[in-house]
Amino acid sequence: MTDSVALSPTSIKNALQSSAPISAILVQGWVRTRRDSKDFSFIELNDGSCLRNLQVIAGNTLSNYAMVQRLNTGASVAVRGALVESQGKGQNWELVTEEITIVGGSDESYPLQKKGHTAEFLREIAHLRPRSNLFGSVFRVRSRLAFAIHRFFQDRGFFYLNTPIITGSDCEGAGELFRVTTIDPNNAPRKANGEIDYGRDFFARATYLTVSGQLEAEAFASALSKVYTFGPTFRAENSNTSRHANEFWMIEPEMAFTDLGGNMDLAEELVKYLIHQIRDNSPDELALFAKFVDGELLARLDFVVDRPFQRTSYAEAVELLVKSGEKFEFPVGYGLNLQSEHERWLTEKHFKCPVTVFNYPKEIKPFYMRLNDDDRTVTAMDLLVPGIGEIVGGSQREERLEVLEKSMRRHKMNPTDYKWYLDLRRYGSVPHSGFGLGFERMLMFVTGISNIRDVIPFARTPGNAEF
Ligand code: 4AD
Ligand code: MG
Repeated sequence: MTDSVALSPTSIKNALQSSAPISAILVQGWVRTRRDSKDFSFIELNDGSCLRNLQVIAGNTLSNYAMVQRLNTGASVAVRGALVESQGKGQNWELVTEEITIVGGSDESYPLQKKGHTAEFLREIAHLRPRSNLFGSVFRVRSRLAFAIHRFFQDRGFFYLNTPIITGSDCEGAGELFRVTTIDPNNAPRKANGEIDYGRDFFARATYLTVSGQLEAEAFASALSKVYTFGPTFRAENSNTSRHANEFWMIEPEMAFTDLGGNMDLAEELVKYLIHQIRDNSPDELALFAKFVDGELLARLDFVVDRPFQRTSYAEAVELLVKSGEKFEFPVGYGLNLQSEHERWLTEKHFKCPVTVFNYPKEIKPFYMRLNDDDRTVTAMDLLVPGIGEIVGGSQREERLEVLEKSMRRHKMNPTDYKWYLDLRRYGSVPHSGFGLGFERMLMFVTGISNIRDVIPFARTPGNAEF
């Protein structure tokens, strides 16, 4: 026992990558499977550091061999021994045990037995599913992707900005806000007209969980030139789809002195960069997704990084949809929102590659988007990708004070509530642009996983906030 304390533990990933045998090594992890032969137990050990397991051989001379033979899937152990070349197929190294410590037992009720669990069942055990090959891989890739995002922006001179989670503004104007309050619902302060008086709430005003960090990012882009946020956002939309969550993470770059063209270029560069990074750094995980989740994943990712994305105006996109002869569930027509089925037709059936749709009618987009000279459209852009639809939404921002005030009034907003935001147009206003990339949607795209609930550690969706 004293030996194993002195030895610092090695991750299974590092052990498997060893270039030479190691006479004394300590690994720690969870038992995936155990099988016994006459004189030995073979344990497949996993510690989550990589997809692969380390085969541990425990011989019947071990003092606790009787306990080893009762080890169940899911138990945690620490093993000290020698890393030697493997006799068996499929692995270079295996661990011959000198001492094995059973850290935490498990029993037959452990829900993650060998194979064949449905995604639905695994969602119910979201606290255990990261111990499966598939979900371990998803969440390793999630971490990798987050790192790659920071790297992309940091390498390009962007500053990482933390915008507030609690805010008084509804950036997207869709009214999908979760209220933040300390008011006792049974004893709420009221105005003369009977409405609840949020002026007497904790922050002396109505506050909500943020739907986007964009407005605050604009303030910082007007000072540091190039910033990006990467944080949680919240939307109280009651849509039970495979692509919507009520709590999701968003990456929002914001750039001063940049127009819509520069914005579209950055979104395309970012998406391609992230695919490259995952292909280069997570090959084992991608191979697993290609095998068990989506057979066309690798070909699709190759295809996407190799070609320029298509670009089309909203007007052209609507024309294509109208002329397609396709039967859609929702109507298509100029002035109507593009639904997910329309977006997917454009990217999957028509262009057969990612496509950026730009210049949407002003009526269907938020107040902050820059009005085009036609007075009908705004400089919006949505990047659509096969299998998902919208992955990025962004725009050039309205930098002209009077035009912005007019737009606010048209959206039934009170400009005096946004004095600080309008100040950015009063003092050194510049053309500026940005977008939001849905982190989970990007993760779905690189993994081929078709339900957003399976790329978030603990998903928040209507009716679900367990864990
Ligand atoms: O298009 P959205 O609503 O844009 C904004 O919030 C802008 N303020 C961003 C900006 O310009 N800075 O959202 C941006 C992206 C979408 O394209 C989508 O990928 C993702 O965020 N998204 C969601 N992802 C998961 N669940 C939801 N409910 C989502 N809503 C949006
Ligand atoms: Mg959008």
